[in-house]
Amino acid sequence: DYSKQVEKLLKKMTLEEKVGQMTQFTSSSDVTGPTLRDNVEKDVKAGHVGSLFNAVSAEYTRELQQMAVEETRLGIPLLFGYDVIHGFKTIFPIPLAEASSFDLEMIKGAARVAAEEASAAGIHWTFAPMVDVSRDPRWGRVMEGAGEDTYYNSVVAKARVEGFQGDDLSATNTVLACAKHFLAYGAAQGGRDYHTVDMSMQTLHDVYLPPFKACVDAGVETFMTSFNEINGTPSTANPYLFKEILRNQWDFKGMVVTDYTAINELIPHGIADNLQSAGELAVNAGIDMDMEGAVFLNTLVKAVKEHKVSEETIDEAVRRILTVKFKLGLFDDPYKYCNAEREEKVTLSADFKHKARLAAQRSIVLLKNENQTLPITLSNTKKIALIGPLAKSRKDVLGGWKAKGSPKNAQSLFEGMKHATAGKAELLYAKGCKLSGEDKSGFEEALEVAKKADVIVLAIGESRVISGEAKSRSDISVPGVQTDLLAHLKQAGKPIVVVLMNGRPLTLEREDELADALLETWHLGTMAGPAIADVIFGGYNPSGKLPMTFPRNVGQIPIFYNVKNTGRPFNPEKPSGYKSTYLDVPNTPLYAFGYGLSYTKFEYSEIKMSSKSTDNEITASVEVKNVGDYDGEEVVQLYVQDVVGRSTRPLKELKGFEKIFLKQGETKTVTFNIKKEDLTYFRWDMSEGVEAGDFNVYIGTSSDHVKMASFTLTEGFEVGKGNPV
Ligand code: IFM
Repeated sequence: DYSKQVEKLLKKMTLEEKVGQMTQFTSSSDVTGPTLRDNVEKDVKAGHVGSLFNAVSAEYTRELQQMAVEETRLGIPLLFGYDVIHGFKTIFPIPLAEASSFDLEMIKGAARVAAEEASAAGIHWTFAPMVDVSRDPRWGRVMEGAGEDTYYNSVVAKARVEGFQGDDLSATNTVLACAKHFLAYGAAQGGRDYHTVDMSMQTLHDVYLPPFKACVDAGVETFMTSFNEINGTPSTANPYLFKEILRNQWDFKGMVVTDYTAINELIPHGIADNLQSAGELAVNAGIDMDMEGAVFLNTLVKAVKEHKVSEETIDEAVRRILTVKFKLGLFDDPYKYCNAEREEKVTLSADFKHKARLAAQRSIVLLKNENQTLPITLSNTKKIALIGPLAKSRKDVLGGWKAKGSPKNAQSLFEGMKHATAGKAELLYAKGCKLSGEDKSGFEEALEVAKKADVIVLAIGESRVISGEAKSRSDISVPGVQTDLLAHLKQAGKPIVVVLMNGRPLTLEREDELADALLETWHLGTMAGPAIADVIFGGYNPSGKLPMTFPRNVGQIPIFYNVKNTGRPFNPEKPSGYKSTYLDVPNTPLYAFGYGLSYTKFEYSEIKMSSKSTDNEITASVEVKNVGDYDGEEVVQLYVQDVVGRSTRPLKELKGFEKIFLKQGETKTVTFNIKKEDLTYFRWDMSEGVEAGDFNVYIGTSSDHVKMASFTLTEGFEVGKGNPV
C-alpha cells in the first residue's frame, strides 16, 4: 500500500504539476495519428509530462528519465509505454494466431517473453492485451485479439495479463498491462475502424464486458479508452463505463489512459465544441491520462479555476498515476529498467526464439488435407516447388504491430523449407505474382517450375500492412491475382499445398476448392519459416483451431457461431420458403469457430452426464480416441445451450475446452464441470440470472461438429439476490 507516500507527494504538487502527470506524449514518429508536438524533451523538462510512449532502448529511456528526475522541481520519474502487442524484438505470432493454439500456457509464456524483452529496453508499460470481442473480419484489428468468443477472450485475456505483469510488478522483467479498448471497439459498424457502435445493453454486458472483467480479476493495472461511441456517447467521455462499471461495480483501482488523441476527437464526434469542454467531459468521466492530445495539459488548470472540474477529481487521477509508479519501484530507482547489459543479453536470445518457434507451430490451423497431401514425406519427395509472393517474405510474417521486430531477424518460409530439405530434396522457387495488382506475367515461369516438382507449396495471402489499425477492408478475399495463380498452377497436375499468411479471416471458397491442402499460418512472427516447415514436413502435427468464423462471402457478415435461432430457423434438410436464410448462400460459414484438422483423426464417444438434473453443478464427459496414424493434440470443446430462457439464448456458447495430447491409438476421458453461475445472462430488463429448465450440452472437435446430451437445472438464481427463480 503506497497511499501514504502518494499523499505526501500529492501535497507538494501544484495544480500545473498534477496536470503534467496526467499527460502522455509520444517521443518518436512511430505514431498512429497526427503528431502534435515537436519537442517533447522540452515538455519533459518543464514538468508537463507524466508518461512517454514509443521511447525505447535502455540508453534513450535513461536519458529521458534523467531529464524528468534531475531537471524538474519534484523529480517525479516518467512512465515509459509502448505497444508490445506480440513481442518486442523477438516477434511471436499475431494475437489472433496465438489464440488459434487454444494453449493458455503458451499464450501466457509469449507475453512473459515480450515483457522480459521490452522491460530490458526500458519499457514499463505495454498497451496490451486488446480484449475486444471481434466478430467482423473486415475490421483490421481482429489480428490483435482472441477472436469472436466472449468466454475464450476472457481466458486469453487473463493469460496475457498474467504473462505481462508476472507476479511482482516491482521486478525489472515485468511490465504493466493495459486492457483495451474499453469498450466495444470491435463492434464498429460495417467493420470500419473507429466507426459508430450501437448495441443493446444486454449484448454489451453479455458479450463485450466479460473479457475486461477478466482482466480486472487478473489484476490488470491499466485500461485504455476506445475511440468509438456507444449508443451516442464516445467511450472517452462515458462515466457509465469508467465510473459506474469499472470503478463502482468492479472496484478497479488502477489508471485509465485515453487512446491516441481520443479527447480531441470528442469534437468531431459532436459531443464537445471546444477542447476545454472535451477535457472536462473526459476527466469527469473518470479518465486519468491524456494520450498525445495535450488537452488536459492545455485546459484542465483553467477548468478547475472555473469550477468545471473539481481539484479532488484531479487528485484522484494523479493518485492512480503515482501509485503505479510506486508499484513499479520507480521512486526507489527511476533507472532500474534502463540496463543496457541486460538489454544486450536477453534481446533476441536463443531461448526466446525457440519459444517463438514453438508458439508459431501451435498457432497454425490445418483447414484442408485431401488425400493426406500433408505432411510431405521427404523420403519419397525429390523436388518441391515453393511458389508465391509471400514465400520469401521476412517482412510480412512479422504482422501488424511488429514493435521493434525487424525482417533482418526473421526467417521466411523459403529459409525454413531450405533448411528442412537440405540434403534431402531439391527446393525450386518462383514468385509467380505480386501481393496485389493485376500482373500475371510471372505465371508461366511459375508453372514451368511447378511442372518439374513432385509437390507445389504456394504461399499467398495478405501483406502485413493490410491488417491492423485503420486497415479495414470491404473485400476480404486473397488480394490481386494470387488465387488466379493457384488456378493456373493446377495445370501442372501436381498436389498443391496452399500456405496462407494473413491477419484476418478471409473468404476462401475458391482456394478451398482448388488446393489439395490448406494451411492457415496467419502472421507467425520471427520464427515463421522454420515453424511452417515443421508442420509441412511432419515435425509438428498441427493442432490449432479457428478463434473466428471464416465466412463464405462478405455478405454473410456478421457471422459467428453463437447466434440465436430466430422464430423462423432454416433447416437445410427440409428447405422451405419464408425461413431465415439467403437466396444465394447457405447460412453456414466456410470454416466454423473451433474448426481445425490434424494429421491424425480423433473419435468422440457419446457424452456421459453425471446425472440427469442438478440444482447446482454437473459434469459432462467424453472419451476421445486417436484413431489415426500420428500422435497428435486435440482441442476438446464444450458448448452449452439454455433451451428456454426469459430472454432468447444463443444456440451454443463455449463454456470450456481442454487441449489434450494423444498417442496413436490412445484414449483419454475429458470431463467438464458445468456450474450454474457459468450460465447466467442479462435479460431485457437488465436483471442477470439463470432460470430453472433444460440445457443442452455439446462436446466436440469444433462448434459445428459435436455430440449432444442434456440436463435439467432444477433451481435458478438471480445474481445479486441469490433467490431461486
Ligand atoms: O495502443 C494504441 C492503440 O491501440 C491505438 N492507437 C494508438 C495507441 C498507441 O500507439
